[in-house]
Parts: sequence; C-alpha cells; structure tokens
Amino acid sequence: MVLGMVIVSIFTSCNKDKKSDSSLKKIETTETFSGIPITHQYDNEIDSLINIMSLEEKVGMLHGTSMFTTAGVERLGIPELKMADGPLGVREEISRSSWAPAGLDNDFATYYPAGAGLSATWNPRMAHLFGTSVGEEARARDKDVLLSPAINIIRTPLGGRTYEYFTEDPFLNKKLAVPFIVGLQDNDVAVCVKHFAANNQETNRNYVDVQIDERTLREIYLPAFEAAVKEAKAYSMMGAYNKFRGEYLCENNYMLNEVLRDEWGFEGVVISDWAAVHTSVNSLKSGLDIEMGTPKPFNEFFLADPLIEAVKNGEISEKEIDKHVKRVLQMMHTLKSMGKEERKQGSINTEAHFKDAYTIASESVVLLKNDNNLLPLNTSNVRSLAVIGANATKKNALGGFGAGVKTKREITPIDGLKSRLPENIKITYAEGYQERYAPKKESVFGEVTQERAVPIDELDPKMLDEAINAAKNSDVTIIFAGSNRDFETEASDRANLSLPFGQVELIEKVLEVNPNTIVVMIAGAPFDINSIKEKSKALVWSWFNGSEGGNALADVILGNVNPSGKLPWTMPKSINDSPAHATNSFPGDQTLYYKEGLLVGYRWFDTKNVEPLYPFGYGLSYTTFDIRNARTDKTESYLENETITISVDVENTGNRDGMEVVQLYVSKNDSKVERATQELKGFEKVMVKAGETNSFNMVVPVKELAYYDVGIKKWVVESGTYNFRIGNSSRNIKTEVSIDIK
Ligand code: BGC
Repeated sequence: MVLGMVIVSIFTSCNKDKKSDSSLKKIETTETFSGIPITHQYDNEIDSLINIMSLEEKVGMLHGTSMFTTAGVERLGIPELKMADGPLGVREEISRSSWAPAGLDNDFATYYPAGAGLSATWNPRMAHLFGTSVGEEARARDKDVLLSPAINIIRTPLGGRTYEYFTEDPFLNKKLAVPFIVGLQDNDVAVCVKHFAANNQETNRNYVDVQIDERTLREIYLPAFEAAVKEAKAYSMMGAYNKFRGEYLCENNYMLNEVLRDEWGFEGVVISDWAAVHTSVNSLKSGLDIEMGTPKPFNEFFLADPLIEAVKNGEISEKEIDKHVKRVLQMMHTLKSMGKEERKQGSINTEAHFKDAYTIASESVVLLKNDNNLLPLNTSNVRSLAVIGANATKKNALGGFGAGVKTKREITPIDGLKSRLPENIKITYAEGYQERYAPKKESVFGEVTQERAVPIDELDPKMLDEAINAAKNSDVTIIFAGSNRDFETEASDRANLSLPFGQVELIEKVLEVNPNTIVVMIAGAPFDINSIKEKSKALVWSWFNGSEGGNALADVILGNVNPSGKLPWTMPKSINDSPAHATNSFPGDQTLYYKEGLLVGYRWFDTKNVEPLYPFGYGLSYTTFDIRNARTDKTESYLENETITISVDVENTGNRDGMEVVQLYVSKNDSKVERATQELKGFEKVMVKAGETNSFNMVVPVKELAYYDVGIKKWVVESGTYNFRIGNSSRNIKTEVSIDIK
C-alpha cells in the first residue's frame, strides 16, 4: 500500500464551553489509501513467453479448466491461476468439476462480517483491516484471486444480495471499497471487484437488460468501481450476468473497453461471472479476458475450443488472443505467482484474524431505539434472563452460494451472552419461532430460476407458549429475531419486506408480558419492523456478523462496547416508499428502466419528502453527542482544484466514551441540473471521551462536488453556493455552513 498524507486532524479539549475554542489539542487520525499498479517490469519476458506458446496453451489461460482455476503451462513454468470466493471470507474448496464441496479438512477460514455489517461501521479503517486480514487468509490457502469485494449499489431493500453489498450510497461505497482492496492486494493476491456493473437484482439476472441514463450510471452506479480502478488499482473485475443497454456485461464494449479500460485506465483482467458468457469472439473483442463457469465440459466454454476454432477460421487474430494472455501474465507477475520474487505466504484461522472479525463486528452493531436506557443491560439487577428466538442459536457462515464460509468458529448470540454473563443469572432459552419454508423445487445453480424460499408464517402454539412463559418468568428478555442466509440469498430477491416465520406476532406477544424486552434483529437488509419499533423499548440491529458476531453483540448489549454502527441504507416504512418500487421499476422482465434515476436510497426519500422508518446514517450510542459550529478554512471562493477543509466541534455530552460518525451532506439549491436534496460527500468516525469536545477537520476536494455532464462527457463543478450540512444521520443535521465555488 502507498500511504497517503494524513488528512484529518482532531483537536481535543475538556472544555465544556459551548463555543469553539482555540486551545484545542491536535491529534492526527486518518490516512488515505492508494494501491500499487500492475507491474510492467516483466513485459519483455512476457512477450518472449507468449511467442513460444501454442494457441492451445494460450487459450487454456483464458477459460476455466476447473471450477476455480484456469490452466497453466507447466513446460514454461506458468502456474494455474487459482481463485476462490468470496466476500465473507475464503470459501471452502470446491471440487474441480462440480459445485460439490471438495470435502477437505484443511479449508476452514475466518468468517468475516458480511458487506452490510462492514459498511455499518462507516469506518474505512475497518475496511482496510478486513481486506488485509482476508487477504492473508487467501494467500494461506494459496489463492491468486479472491472474488471480492461485492460492491453493487443497493437499489432495492429486497435484493437477494443486499446483505452482501455495502450500501445505497456511492460515496460511502467507494470510501470503503478502496481501503478494502488496497489491504487485500497488499498480500500479493488480487481482488476481483464484482459485479461490474449495474447488477442490482437477482430476479432475471441472467438476461434482464438494465437501462440507466448516463448521468445516473456515472454518479450512482460506477463511482466505487471507478475508485477501485483509479485509486485502489484493482487487478481484476468480474463481469456481471445481466445485460446493460442491450449487451451482456461480459461482452459490453462500452463498459469494458471504453469506460473501464480507455477512460479509467484499467490494466488488469476482466473475469466473467460464473456462466455469464454468451459468445467467443465478441466477448473477447468487447473486453473480457477470462471465462469462468459452472459445470459443462471445460473445453466447450466459449473461450475454449470455440475460440481456437475462431482463430483458425480467421474470425479473430492470434494477436488479439495474445493481448488477453499478456494481461493475465502481467497480473500473475504482479502477484508474484510467477518470477523469482518472494511472495507473501499469509496465515489463516488465527486468533489475530478472529480478533479482526470481532473488531469489525463490534463497530457495526446499530442501536435503533433505547427508551428508559434499558440498554446497556445492567446485570446487577438481573437474576433471570429469557433468551428467545431461533436467531439466538443460528449460525450463518455457510449458505448463499459464493458467499459461504466453512469456519471453525462462529459464536452465536447465545454463546456470546453465556460467555459474558455472571453465572448466577439463570438463562431460559425458548426458540419461539422456527425457520420453516414451504416445499420448493431444488434450485439449480446457474439456471434461470426465480424459486425463492417461501416462509411459513404460522407460529407453533406450543413454542409460542414456551416463549411467553420464559419471558413472563424472567426479569429481562432478549429476543434474537430477523432473517438468515437462506432467506436473504444470491439467486433470488425477497418478495416483500415482511419478517418471516411469524416473528412479529411472537415479538408483540412477548412484549405484552415482559416490557423489559430487548429486541435484536439479525439481518442484512431492511425488514418491516414498524410495529416492533413502536412497541419495543430497546431495539438493536446486528448483521451476519462473522466468526465473532455473537461476542461483539453481547458486548454491545452488556455495555462493554458502546455501539457506533450506522445504517448504510434507508429503512423504509413500506416497500412502496422505496424509489425502485415507488416508480414501479422493479423487477422488470426483459428490459428494466431504473426510473428513479439519480434518486436512489435516501436521495429519493429526502427529495420527495418521504419519511423513512429509520434514515440512512442513523444509529444511537449509549452516550450523546452535540455537533456544532461548522466552519471552513476560507471565507472567499474556492477554485476547482482546491480542497475545502470543514471543521466542526463534537462534544460528548453523556457519561461514556463513544464513537460518533459525523456525516457531511451537500446541497445546492439553485443548480441548473437536477440534483438530490442532499448527497453524502464526507464522513468521519471519531472517538470522543465523555465530557470532552473534539474539534476536527474533514477535507472535501472541490471536484467531489461535480456532476456528470452527459453532453460533454465530463465531470463539471458548477459555480455558486453550496450548503454543507453536518449531522449524525441524513435526517439529523446539526450545523451548516455555505461555501462558494468560483
Ligand atoms: C456469483 C459470484 C460468485 C461466483 C462464483 C456467481 O454466481 O454471482 O459472485 O463469485 O458465482 O461462485
């Protein structure tokens, strides 16, 4: 990694004076992250090698010759290119020619928090830690490419992969993607950033033709991919399944050649999603390098025998093949999988990695409601505790196809509590609801199927009674509810926002008998929790949160950790309030127009004045913060190539140390182009000690304020006044300052 300059400085004071103060002490915190480009040091050697390779040897490097490898050329010392899923940790080994697990006993890995959990930390340092840690694991499993991170924009709460992706906001997305990639690639292993691009739903993903206007594409759906290339120097990208403007994304000349390579300068390798390729010559010419796929004879892949045929027939030149082979070899040299340079060896399943998973998880838990300070749970007054809900004991590491992890450690919520609670507290566990589904056809991976799990929503009366009795007879009740990795999964989107398995009824009934009930949701995507919000006193949101998720959650509940997670997406009151649904543009069939345009996520809610259930960026703490006194480093106008330094004072007004995410939203009232009411353009997670005031800076490059001008195909910074609105959620702005751009 190339460490950038320190851009945030913090000043501390115990001064209770509400006015800003010049005696504050300076502490420096945040670094910027930038990656190391593909090496060209071996280009001559690579050319000589290609000169002596047969056509068959070259083509062998451009398609899967097992489920997760492409061929090497042994006689020339070229090894196979070895890949593995995925975003939550290094997936178990898969058989070479089928999806069956290889059945090894040495392919365990650390299970890290899913994307939504990472993004709820709102902390680029956590993304860097995650990337570094999982990169070490990938190396220890001798992988060259990890099929991660998954960073498509969350367009609808119902998306099957909402839990796996980061956020609905392009700025938060890129600020997390970049350090993740840099950390991972620092280990001599490549990321494969997926799924490039405009792949925002599972329904009809194998053929749906997504139509997005150019400005929306550039401002919402591409920024994180662009930053992955330009800042993080991602070595590989995964072409998505669906079509974009009429062409499949693995043969989309505009996206792969014009945008990715010509405009952004991507030098790495484009790898197809598994079975996402439809042609030989056209795919290759349109910018794809490697075809991977699901079982069929590997020589029948489009970029296998048919490609050899195409060269022989003169449909494509061998020179064109060489270009793609060269890219793969350049990446292999960069990763030191070839050549004599020493390569990092990594480590896996270590205590240090479990601790990394814990650290990330402990910053991700979101406190949604805490009336009467029911939380943190004061155990000195508790003699009996009812733990209710299938999610108290549910493990979530496996499942979700490419996002499953076989792990030796997954601490469940009840394990976490038990390991931390004093022994004299009596715990009564009642499952309460069961994860049950109507029978369905076995879904066939890679085939077009809309089969989704249909939950059975009736409660078992006996289990309900047990739960009610446990709650009645205990001082405090904790319900662990939500969903799981079968209900939220790749290959299907959810039908609606309803909480499955009769959980709302269960929770309401338990709340009736024991008002000292804490409700904990474990899920990766929004659900309809309207009535739970209204009726419960304490509501916590946790995620598919990795090997140490249960310990992190218990520490938040018990107050060993002060919660600092913030929602990375908007929780709507009703699905019809969400932009893709309000505009009736989901899921589409053959062709799908993203009719909400730029107004994705909170941009829609804020611009259209729709009240969310919980806003983007929301999350409470066990302490309280005051954010005030926004000011800038200059009073005169800024120029396009300048940066704006905004300072604010953050006071911890409670009696616990805590972290707050200060969020900066920008609006421009008199813009000549359509804009959302406000857009996130800066954020910083800061630790403030109880009673102290920190004054800190956020730096916004003026260029960050640009919109994409479709007419001239350029980013343009409009002159005039911008309002910088700073708070701790998109709906809780505490202080504002205006700036002028010349
Ligand atoms: C998924 C990818 C995954 C690949 C290999 C595909 O179905 O979309 O994210 O990496 O399978 O498992």
